[in-house]
Amino acid sequence: MSSDVSVQSQVVIVAGASSGMGRSTARLLAESGAKAVMAARRQEDLTQLQGELEARGLEAISCPTDTRDREQVERLVRVAMDHLGRVDALVYTTGINRPQRAISVLPPETWDDMVATNLTGAFHCTQALLPQMISQAGGLFVYISSGAVRGPHSAGVAYMASKHALKGLADGVQFEHHRDGIRCTILVPGLTDTPMLNDRPIPTAPEQLAAALCPDDIALTCRFVVGLPKHIWIPENGVRPVGIL
Ligand SMILES: NC(=O)c1ccc[n+]([C@@H]2O[C@H](COP(=O)([O-])OP(=O)(O)OC[C@H]3O[C@@H](n4cnc5c(N)ncnc54)[C@H](OP(=O)(O)O)[C@@H]3O)[C@@H](O)[C@H]2O)c1
Repeated sequence: MSSDVSVQSQVVIVAGASSGMGRSTARLLAESGAKAVMAARRQEDLTQLQGELEARGLEAISCPTDTRDREQVERLVRVAMDHLGRVDALVYTTGINRPQRAISVLPPETWDDMVATNLTGAFHCTQALLPQMISQAGGLFVYISSGAVRGPHSAGVAYMASKHALKGLADGVQFEHHRDGIRCTILVPGLTDTPMLNDRPIPTAPEQLAAALCPDDIALTCRFVVGLPKHIWIPENGVRPVGIL
């Protein structure tokens, strides 16, 4: 991949970098000259990606983080600041869904876990990063929502509610901090072939999988948003595979 001057040297925290879209995004950002700070719970997967990137002379650090845990998120921000001195952007790809997702069977503890992972973790990251972004006169938050927010959908109520609520987080932060150079972007991907699809109650049909986006497609979109000049704000952007409505 060629170097992208506008992404060059930006420090970007990618939450959810151990797998799927987040892993591809961290890799592409590093390949494009950014300094990626990779976070997720699975340390081994982060270390493996860090090793791969370092072996190619690219800059990336990793910090095992459970984004549901406020203290771990604060440590992640401290690690980024201590090693790299600033954070320009967060890409929050962290997300889960569960097979038992219909409201008739959804265990309350699964609701709590999905809201904690998909939404509250994004809140923790945002609140932990805002002060230093404001002090450096700008910063970007990219939250990965889902095409499941477009209307009635089979993705399950906890998933849909938490993904809808990311928009509320983004809009609220944007309203309160637009004069501080803060930008919040919601990305709304359609079906993407990642390990998350293994958690569906009914396996994805092969013809759907064949037409699905791949994690690198979302990485391209994230790099595009991160690389935009700082006076351009994209509130929301759909990213959908051709052939699946
Ligand atoms: N695949 C799709 O069709 C699709 C479509 C639209 C939107 N999305 C959204 O896209 C995002 C990326 O998902 P994906 O499809 O790439 O799935 P994935 O491969 O399963 O990746 C999910 C990532 O979230 C991380 N994660 C989960 N719980 C976490 C926690 N408590 N703390 C920190 N990290 C955590 C996982 O890492 P660890 O397990 O190591 O913590 C993993 O890196 C998700 O928000 C998902 O909802 C997916």
